[in-house]
Amino acid sequence: MKKISPVSRSGRFARGPGADVAQFTESVSFDWRLWRHDILGSLAHAAMLRKIGVLSKTEAGAIARGFKTIAREIEAGKFRWQAGLEDVHMNIEAELTRRVPAGAKLHTARSRNDQVTLDMRLWLRDEITALLGEIAGLQRALVSLGEKNSDVLIPGYTHLQRAQPVYLAHHLLAYVEMLERDCERLWDCHSRVNVCPLGSGAIAGSTLPLDRVLVAKLLGFVDTSGKPQLTQNSMDAVSDRDFAVEFCAAGALLAVHLSRLAEDVILWASAEFNFIKIADAYTTGSSLMPQKKNPDIAELTRGKTGRVFGNLISLLTLLKGLPMTYNRDLQEDKERVFDTADTVRATTRLMTAMLRNTKVNRAACAAAASDPALLATDLADYLVRKGMPFRQAHHAVGAVVALAEKTGKPLNQFTLAELQSMDKAFGRDALGVFNLQRAMAKRNLTGAPGTKEVAKQLARWREQLS
Ligand code: ARG
Repeated sequence: MKKISPVSRSGRFARGPGADVAQFTESVSFDWRLWRHDILGSLAHAAMLRKIGVLSKTEAGAIARGFKTIAREIEAGKFRWQAGLEDVHMNIEAELTRRVPAGAKLHTARSRNDQVTLDMRLWLRDEITALLGEIAGLQRALVSLGEKNSDVLIPGYTHLQRAQPVYLAHHLLAYVEMLERDCERLWDCHSRVNVCPLGSGAIAGSTLPLDRVLVAKLLGFVDTSGKPQLTQNSMDAVSDRDFAVEFCAAGALLAVHLSRLAEDVILWASAEFNFIKIADAYTTGSSLMPQKKNPDIAELTRGKTGRVFGNLISLLTLLKGLPMTYNRDLQEDKERVFDTADTVRATTRLMTAMLRNTKVNRAACAAAASDPALLATDLADYLVRKGMPFRQAHHAVGAVVALAEKTGKPLNQFTLAELQSMDKAFGRDALGVFNLQRAMAKRNLTGAPGTKEVAKQLARWREQLS
């Protein structure tokens, strides 16, 4: 690498780095995607330099126009990124300075150390907003699927064993709740991303009279009441990546939720469950077995969780041994943050599309939900209503279940005499417990899968997500 960048090498270096060093240290191959936010940050910095008299009106105007052309070229894919210029910041500034001599004044009282964390914060802010939109889309898809099948009952499972009947909508709304907590966490993270570090310089601010508040306002670093949010310690500001860790942590938990949903979808789409049918366009075939229809979107969603966890651990490990303040190690944060953002956004979007193209097999669900064993607990509750202590009721019904298993007779097919031979407390109305509709009508505690309660929850989410 012969060419000496107008911005990267100071006067003390006689030569630029060798090709292998340049290749090892460059980051433009991946941080180029920060270009839009880099230019936004530079425009705000230039406006501030103009206000404090470092740039003349003409110079500031020329710089703004220069950035406009550069942005257009990048957008059109015509910009030539040079690895020799290390990163996105120096590529853009070098090109600006080549065209606009006043560009050489732009780096006044600014370092790439505060510039790069500014860019990351601006980029993440947009990314979080976009991700929140995707999550809301998935929540809406889950609510729609529940609404379209609002009368469908399935067995609820614990230990993957049939437990008690629930509305399919209740099961789907469990994911809506998880995703809502993900949104809350991302919003909370957003409040710490949304703090302006510019003006921190390399480590110790600047001797020049910068207007940090102006820059923060121009870039929208304000809280909900419009108060500018500025970092309060220059050393912390240039080395803090907590906001990136928080994003990756929130992303990891979102990935857990998506993976669990994926697992349910995979089970439900199997011949063994057969609760749902995913549209052909959202499945793939097998190159060998002609009959196969595989739920690859759900499987990859589950599979990609690993890399999202890995990104979080990588970031934490990256930070744990760093002495104050900026260290080049921090350049390694980008690919981890980008990968988490890309992965959770894509999986959320694809899971949404897949669910929007999934049909519920009502007959199979009804068959599974009609298993009378699902209402064994209701039979115990029946005895409790007659005054029996629950432990004793559990024991009595357990004996009925054992007999049912031994004789191969479904729980709801016993005669009153047979029931009473097990326990005298069973009355004429005992078998009424096995009426599924009535059983569902009884489950109306807040948060329970009762008929009225599930309808109420569906309506609440429909309203909240509209
Ligand atoms: N590409 C660098 C990064 O991502 C930018 C900051 C470099 N600063 C420095 N003093 N070398 O961290």
